[in-house]
Amino acid sequence: MHTRSAGPLFNEVGAARYENAFIGGPHGQLASLEWILSTLSSSSITGANCLDIGSGSGRPVCSTLAAAGHRVLGVDVSEAMVAFASEHVPLATFTRADIRDFKVEENQKYDVVTSYFGLIAEISQQEILETLKKIGHEMLKPGGIFVWATVPVDVNLEEIMWMGKPVVVSNLAKDAAVEAVRDVAGLQIVNVVEEKFKPEKAVEAGICAEEDVWVEDHLYIWARKSA
Ligand SMILES: C[S@@+](CC[C@H](N)C(=O)[O-])C[C@H]1O[C@@H](n2cnc3c(N)ncnc32)[C@H](O)[C@@H]1O
Repeated sequence: MHTRSAGPLFNEVGAARYENAFIGGPHGQLASLEWILSTLSSSSITGANCLDIGSGSGRPVCSTLAAAGHRVLGVDVSEAMVAFASEHVPLATFTRADIRDFKVEENQKYDVVTSYFGLIAEISQQEILETLKKIGHEMLKPGGIFVWATVPVDVNLEEIMWMGKPVVVSNLAKDAAVEAVRDVAGLQIVNVVEEKFKPEKAVEAGICAEEDVWVEDHLYIWARKSA
């Protein structure tokens, strides 16, 4: 058990409202999904074993990978997110778990691991690094693909307001994030994409007020484990 959990925050935000706030974007997420699908296809991998950490509503990440014929497990600490994703993305499987406690069986390694903004809330920098280590050394198969999306700022357990709600966050700055994927997870960096995104539809979605949303820096790291 952990003293902090992002579950209550994301139960409160709600999967449908979260999805409405991010619908149609961010572009970097869609671009990285295209890269995953084209890499699997050019390696002739069908029915790939995929794990999405912090899977949220299940769309577009789990839905896209599952629609392409891959076996997808979404892990999320919020019951509300898991219930919504299970109902709306029936081609994938979802389970409620905190990734810090998630055990990987020896015979259950993944061809693809993704985490889009799922390692930020109510987690420390140290726990982010431990999770990256687990992804690179325990979860991925040789040749496996990893995409990590985060907000590149050097903060450790700082309380901020996010979409009008208080949350304790941690993140790594861009260079430290890239280094961590390379040196802690032990993966080869394929691409680093930076993007600015303003979740302005969060206001329409009823999550928060106009003054609670601003332009966020997003960082996408595409990486592979050596074969
Ligand atoms: C910002 S949302 C992103 C959702 C989805 N990945 C997307 O990009 O649309 C972060 C999600 O990660 C989940 N999450 C946060 N910390 C987690 C943890 N330690 N273990 C599992 N899920 C977590 C939250 O419940 C939430 O659904």
